[in-house]
Amino acid sequence: MKISDIREAYFRYFSERGHVLIPSAPLVPQNDPTTLFTGSGMQPLIPYLLGKDHPSGQRLVDSQKSFRAEDIEEVGDNRHTTFFEMLGNWSLGDYFKKEQLPWFFGFLTEEIGLDPAKLFVTVFIGDEENGIPRDTESAEIWKQLFALKGIEAKDVVVGSETDAARLGMREGRIFYYDAKKNWWSRAGTPDKMPAGEPGGPDSEVFYDFGTPHDAKFGLECHPNCDCGRFMEIGNSVFMQYIKKEDGTFGELPKANVDFGGGLERIAAASQDNPDVFQIDALVEIIELLEHFSKKPYNDSRHTRSFRIIADHVRAATFMIADGVKPTNVERGYVLRRLIRRASFHAGKLGVQDKDAEDSMLVRASSMIIEKYKHAYPELEGELPAALVRDEIRKEELQFARTLVEGMKAFEAASRDGLSADAVFELVTTHGIPFEMLQELAAERSLAVDSHAFNERMLRHKNVSRAGLEQKFKGGLADTSEKTTRLHTAHHLLLKALQIVLGPHVKQRGSNITQERLRIDFSHGEKVSKEQLAEVERIVNEKIREALPVTHSTIAKERAEGLGAEREFGAKYPDMVSVYSIGPAGANADNPHFENAFSMEFCGGPHVHNTSELSGIFTIKKEEAVAAGIRRIKAILQ
Ligand code: ALA
Repeated sequence: MKISDIREAYFRYFSERGHVLIPSAPLVPQNDPTTLFTGSGMQPLIPYLLGKDHPSGQRLVDSQKSFRAEDIEEVGDNRHTTFFEMLGNWSLGDYFKKEQLPWFFGFLTEEIGLDPAKLFVTVFIGDEENGIPRDTESAEIWKQLFALKGIEAKDVVVGSETDAARLGMREGRIFYYDAKKNWWSRAGTPDKMPAGEPGGPDSEVFYDFGTPHDAKFGLECHPNCDCGRFMEIGNSVFMQYIKKEDGTFGELPKANVDFGGGLERIAAASQDNPDVFQIDALVEIIELLEHFSKKPYNDSRHTRSFRIIADHVRAATFMIADGVKPTNVERGYVLRRLIRRASFHAGKLGVQDKDAEDSMLVRASSMIIEKYKHAYPELEGELPAALVRDEIRKEELQFARTLVEGMKAFEAASRDGLSADAVFELVTTHGIPFEMLQELAAERSLAVDSHAFNERMLRHKNVSRAGLEQKFKGGLADTSEKTTRLHTAHHLLLKALQIVLGPHVKQRGSNITQERLRIDFSHGEKVSKEQLAEVERIVNEKIREALPVTHSTIAKERAEGLGAEREFGAKYPDMVSVYSIGPAGANADNPHFENAFSMEFCGGPHVHNTSELSGIFTIKKEEAVAAGIRRIKAILQ
């Protein structure tokens, strides 16, 4: 089935059951500063799940545009995409399990025509500690539904994913998993949820493609196994709980259903083909690329490039139509990466014509617009088409220009053996995709240490992952190595100011670029020359001492108890990310917080050790910015 047919069928099916169709919210969250992109259907509906009346009523249906930046690196296999449509039906305090499960089952088997024998389901095992019972109610409903299709559905208790890989299928059809698999909240499992966050047990449906199990993914296969035999195609969340201030769970004023189903995956199941890139919207791009590259998609040397281009162009098209522009920070940085990676892979396939009026990526984006504009009116008309075309084109050209400089930097770095730091710099500052570096290096018989690079990149990823946990503290211009160094220097500086001027010093603002750092802090009078000299001395001493910088995620109360610096006015969840500097010998397993020189609530990124700050810390300017607030600008010279 085509995705438009499935989407239409879903809207009709739930409209017939009293649901009102609501439009997709934009990919850029509207009143939610906690994430960069809308990553699921429930995000825009949080206020209503918490009890607010929705203007369209208690039964809603939609298809939400979603984007998950954390999956960028995963794209290339047969199932991961960054952008996807999440079909959703919602009960805002109206119906519950005994309506939801039969409806979704009916939709899959009657409307889409899936063979019920290929469907397997999971339910929540229960959580004694938090007083949340095992979901036997859902299991009973599933038993009856399968029985109506002449299938005897046996339920088996598995627990964790590890247990499941040991226990295997055991002729089960209904599987009880723990909270890691069958509990849903924006923050994850019950222990991770901050106070005020809604969540609940869920029941997932998996489609069995019948492919042989791959033991690389575990001894035995089971519905949540990653070997590729099973694919999750829908998740009914029974959102009835809320985490309370005291850490226990209470009931929401009304019990809700939050259903989310991946449209692409349901389409893949309808074709009985586990490759989501074979659905109509993506396969048409792949055919275009095959035609111009004269390379077959099935040639395993090229499959990944085909998939990356198709996925990234689609995501970029929707993002640009929602107002994102390629830049070096936050959303813009993600968009930039998408276009550059796609451009690189187009080059690999040999379809990148730099001088053509319409590049291959632009042509692919036009196909996406055609395909989706009926369902997503924001793509309709000349304006969005022109915007998408211009932004992609501009970025491709800029990428080509950057590569001229980037290649020079690469040549220089490769003479020194291409260290992990140099690779990181080439990727983040010069914008060269990692895969491209690997290829360039291979041509020169050099090795790129991808392990060291990944480690380095982990800090970088804090940007998108900061998500719910907390966004970057104060304005970091980017996450290049230079900015990261100054960010760590910034922490040293704040502590040094407190030592020299007194504990009343609190940070009131910050801004860090590759060139300099800036801090605004509370202090009533001009800081004297001698005091500034003493502050510089302390910071430089800590750089020389080569102190480890340790990242930890700990309970908010504990961080407060340890006196960690908070960002002025910020609200923090129960679990917070903190960075501590020193003492010597500290590490993530033994952070020795009590003896740290500095400790701050912070989302990173930072260097691993103050010795990486290479250079003399120098204060360039001290001035007043407001009554009782001073500003310092400083550099590493
Ligand atoms: N909110 C649920 C999910 O994203 C449906 O899986």
